[in-house]
Amino acid sequence: MWHLVATYLLLLTTLSIGSAPPTDRDCGHDLINLWLDVVVVVDNSIGMTQAGLTEQADLNRFQSADDLFNSVFSILPHLSSSDEVYLAKGIAAAEQVLTAGRKNNTRSNYKQFVLIYASAYNDDGMGDPRPIAERLKTSGVNIATVAFDQTGDQDILKAIGEIASPGFNFTNKDEDLVGEVQAAMVQTNCYCSNSWHQYRDQFGVASSQKYGVCLRPVAITAGWTPAKFACQNMIQMGYMVTEYNQKKHDFVFKLIQNDTSFPEPYIYHIGLSYVNGGYYWQQPVGHALVPVNSNDSFWNPGFPQQSSTSPAVLNQQASSVISVGWQNVNQFTVAERYVCEVSSCDTENYCE
Ligand SMILES: *[C@@H]1O[C@H](CO)[C@@H](O)[C@H](O)[C@H]1NC(C)=O
Ligand SMILES: *[C@@H]1O[C@H](CO)[C@@H](O)[C@H](O)[C@H]1NC(C)=O
Ligand SMILES: *[C@@H]1O[C@H](CO)[C@@H](O)[C@H](O)[C@H]1NC(C)=O
Ligand SMILES: *[C@@H]1O[C@H](CO)[C@@H](O)[C@H](O)[C@H]1NC(C)=O
Repeated sequence: MWHLVATYLLLLTTLSIGSAPPTDRDCGHDLINLWLDVVVVVDNSIGMTQAGLTEQADLNRFQSADDLFNSVFSILPHLSSSDEVYLAKGIAAAEQVLTAGRKNNTRSNYKQFVLIYASAYNDDGMGDPRPIAERLKTSGVNIATVAFDQTGDQDILKAIGEIASPGFNFTNKDEDLVGEVQAAMVQTNCYCSNSWHQYRDQFGVASSQKYGVCLRPVAITAGWTPAKFACQNMIQMGYMVTEYNQKKHDFVFKLIQNDTSFPEPYIYHIGLSYVNGGYYWQQPVGHALVPVNSNDSFWNPGFPQQSSTSPAVLNQQASSVISVGWQNVNQFTVAERYVCEVSSCDTENYCE
């Protein structure tokens, strides 16, 4: 009797582990490990009283290695009483600090983050902060804004938010401001090397959540097996692309469609192949392959075909309809373009 109960429990455990579908890696989010150049800009208008700030004092929790936030909050009580606001000057100063930090070509692998606290806004002529903010963003700096709402002036709040990078416009009234700023830093610290594209929640939507995954379409044709090795050699821990679910399948296809070196009909190898009685996804060298989840498979009609000589899988546009599905082919003789994948650079994955 006892024996039966034990077996039953074991079975349950095995089942629940076995049925979790594989998912794409999230951006590393270990706040202790952030590697970012951060500059904080605080406007010194009288609109920003100490009372407006004390509830945010918790912010200094998240740079324990650095007294950055401590400094910010020790400066704030000594704000000048001038009500002239030159946010543009503050942002220009931030730009200088960031540029100076790059003088010797050092830290070029560090992303740059500017956090702006502002309660007012001056948009005429010299004082207009927007051109310089645009310049910073264009050069790859992420800007987060915290608009201090003390008068309820929606126009000012909106204007301050427009300086921010997509999705990084916050206000002091936000319920979880600290969490939002932390998330913005984590997202900023999550990036792909040159010529790799970040997998994110929505293709082409810069404010959508990033995954900790980078993709690279390769417009050189090769058999599946040579393509697999090419991905492994292209970058450390690289592998041929996975398509764990519809979202990833569609994203990869959108990336291909936006790449003019991939002609129609669309055909490209993916990291799926038949191994030891089942279909498995490629992983970094040294990691176990991941079994395909049959709930999330995208076979074209009539596939997979049973054939010991066709274990490799590619995406193929099967008709004039703009969509692709999986087909199994020979791993050496069918030369096509392909897509590689690698983990992003982030708090769990430092990149030189
Ligand atoms: C597949 O779908 C069925 C029904 O929706 C579900 O019960 C099962 O857990 C799913 N399997 C996996 C591996 O996701
Ligand atoms: C650049 O290099 C010089 C000489 O090695 C050094 O004195 C200076 O501190 C460096 N500057 C930065 C920003 O690293
Ligand atoms: C941030 O910007 C978006 C898009 O412009 C807007 O919908 C949202 O309300 C803004 N959030 C805040 C807190 O201002
Ligand atoms: C699509 O391709 C164009 C031209 O190469 C590029 O500028 C753009 O960033 C691409 N879009 C996305 C969302 O990757």
